[in-house]
Amino acid sequence: MSGGAEAHAAAADMKPAALHHRKPPPAAWSAEGFDYGGFRFVPCIGPEIGEIREDYPSFVLMKTAPLVASYEQELPVSVGNLLELGIMKGGSCAFLEALLQPQNHLAIDIHGFAGDGLAELTAHVAATGRRFRADYATSQSDIPRILDLWQEVSGTRGEFDLVIDDASHDYELSLRSFDGLFPLIKPGGIYVLEDWGWAHWNGPWQDSRNRDFHRPALSNLLIHACLSVTGGSGFVESVKVTPNAAFIVRGPNPSTSFSVVDSYLNRNRPKTTL
Ligand SMILES: C[S@@+](CC[C@H](N)C(=O)[O-])C[C@H]1O[C@@H](n2cnc3c(N)ncnc32)[C@H](O)[C@@H]1O
Repeated sequence: MSGGAEAHAAAADMKPAALHHRKPPPAAWSAEGFDYGGFRFVPCIGPEIGEIREDYPSFVLMKTAPLVASYEQELPVSVGNLLELGIMKGGSCAFLEALLQPQNHLAIDIHGFAGDGLAELTAHVAATGRRFRADYATSQSDIPRILDLWQEVSGTRGEFDLVIDDASHDYELSLRSFDGLFPLIKPGGIYVLEDWGWAHWNGPWQDSRNRDFHRPALSNLLIHACLSVTGGSGFVESVKVTPNAAFIVRGPNPSTSFSVVDSYLNRNRPKTTL
């Protein structure tokens, strides 16, 4: 047995702290942010996020109060296996650790950001017998690399309870992530798509001088997921939508090969995108 395999076997014998986890009480926000599960969160969703630095156990979090509330409301009490796409300054990693205490938690991003407190978070989680790893050199569309990292973290090739996509918000890249990762979620597990509706928001999103104006809408992915629910393939069980996040529940179809666009019929008519 390799050292890694021994570590996984030893961890499997442990009583995971997450089994006894209770969600912290709802976050109470002040103008500066909120305290939650032993961490401090400073929310920022504007371009000034590039300039903001916080030191552990304080984190910059790219989420609004309603979005935080929908996570508190919609997610289970704890999850075993969590994959996060899109880290930025690490706030969501610490928030999800506080909320769910995952047994295995991998977070990937394509860009590195300095001063994010994730080295301290990694050590904090390891001290409880659980595993957290952040990787800042991985694209959300590189499924083989994500699965290799996941194997290193958890000793398994997938079997997610929860996947959260808060990365590019680009339709094509998000579709690749969804097709590659959604089938690896356990039945009843959840795939969260953040900011799915940006093409339908007011302001710069409707301005043709904005680069994003010319991209296909991310909401196309959600429309495919909804039509998959009614198409009867058994891949997508249900979809719940809030203004800033969609919660897509994995159905019982055991196949790991999946294309959401091809998972429903349309009377041989084209599946045009918005
Ligand atoms: C909205 S931010 C994530 C915020 C973070 N989840 C939070 O709530 O604090 C989006 C992140 O996705 C990353 N990103 C953009 N394109 C990506 C891609 N193709 N693959 C992986 N990450 C990507 C960006 O570098 C950025 O850090």
